[in-house]
Amino acid sequence: MADKFLEVVEARKSLYKLKAESTIPDSKIQEIIEATIKHAPSTYNVQSARAVILLGAKHQQLWDIALKHMEPALEGSPMKDHVVSRIALHRASYGTVLWYEDQDALKALGEKSPMIVPMLTEFSDHSSGLHQFIAWAALEAEGLGGNLQHYNFHPVFVADVAAAYDLPDPSTWKLKSQLVFGTPTSTEREYPRAYEPLEKRVLIKS
Ligand SMILES: Cc1cc2nc3c(=O)[nH]c(=O)nc-3n(C[C@H](O)[C@H](O)[C@H](O)COP(=O)(O)O)c2cc1C
Repeated sequence: MADKFLEVVEARKSLYKLKAESTIPDSKIQEIIEATIKHAPSTYNVQSARAVILLGAKHQQLWDIALKHMEPALEGSPMKDHVVSRIALHRASYGTVLWYEDQDALKALGEKSPMIVPMLTEFSDHSSGLHQFIAWAALEAEGLGGNLQHYNFHPVFVADVAAAYDLPDPSTWKLKSQLVFGTPTSTEREYPRAYEPLEKRVLIKS
């Protein structure tokens, strides 16, 4: 059983050239995201993760918003062409999952357990990362490809996204990442992965 799970873990990779097609029905995508939200762990079981699945025109709109903000922000930067062409690839994909962390849920937990307040942001980030990984791996296990983006560093992008999809204020639903997915044109990694020696990364003491 662990081997099967680890096969899925190993198979997950960043794929960027994705078609606006899906290997599975939208209902299955929703099922995967709901299962992720339901079963992923969170600190004290706070369940602060929120996910928004964007498909079709709503998905394309996200990447139009990103382009609108990133193009002027990168004027004169050597990164501009790369980022603009990446955004075009994201837009041409099938969908995006927006991952949020609900600050109200975390605040309520902090009021109940003041001792963990200094750790709450870190715990929330850990839990969000677990959610993102589960969904990414599960979508790829269904023959989709995915990549993880972080345009949430741009506050106006974040605000526009909240307004575009009628979501709670960004100070309440804090955007953590954007998981882009679609049918891969190739399952080869764009950047072949090099592995640091395990001996320096895993210690066994017995
Ligand atoms: C926390 C985190 C942040 C990442 N941010 C980005 C990102 O903003 N853009 C991107 O293209 N990939 C991003 N990645 C993907 C990594 O670059 C990628 O997982 C890593 O290079 C290993 O390659 P693989 O995903 O093909 O195994 C991120 C991954 C993690 C875990």
